[in-house]
Amino acid sequence: MIKVITYGTFDLFHLGHLRLLERAAGLGDYLLVGISTDEFNWQEKSKICVQSYDERAAIVSALKVVNEVFPEESWDQKVEDMKKYKADIFVMGDDWLGKFDFLKDYCQVTYLERTPGVSTSERKKIIMDSEG
Ligand code: CTP
Repeated sequence: MIKVITYGTFDLFHLGHLRLLERAAGLGDYLLVGISTDEFNWQEKSKICVQSYDERAAIVSALKVVNEVFPEESWDQKVEDMKKYKADIFVMGDDWLGKFDFLKDYCQVTYLERTPGVSTSERKKIIMDSEG
């Protein structure tokens, strides 16, 4: 069984997220998704999520292409995760190109092309602009 693992915030879940997860799932037999916690987003990325971790995790875990979700609480947990979950392929969108090449000692590292024209931050901006 080929295990694929990916990470993200998945706030205001959109088509780019879905396409990424569908393509990641297509690379193997079992897809694990690390979902960044609210604390991690705030402390490490200065990002406030519109949806809580519980809501984001519930949406992602309900997708038929996703087999398991778990919290991403720090940048440093990935090496341990690769071993713990016995991941064969690590996947991220190509906005992260090269950033996780250090995981190549543990698994295959693949960057998938982002779906153009959609992102959570752009969606947040549209909502804020529409409020005047
Ligand atoms: N992703 C994608 N295509 C998009 C947006 C995101 O393939 N249009 C991928 C990212 O590359 C990442 C995963 O989806 O592998 C989770 O991305 P996330 O950071 O949660 O979403 P973004 O929309 O990129 O959020 P932000 O705008 O806050 O950076």
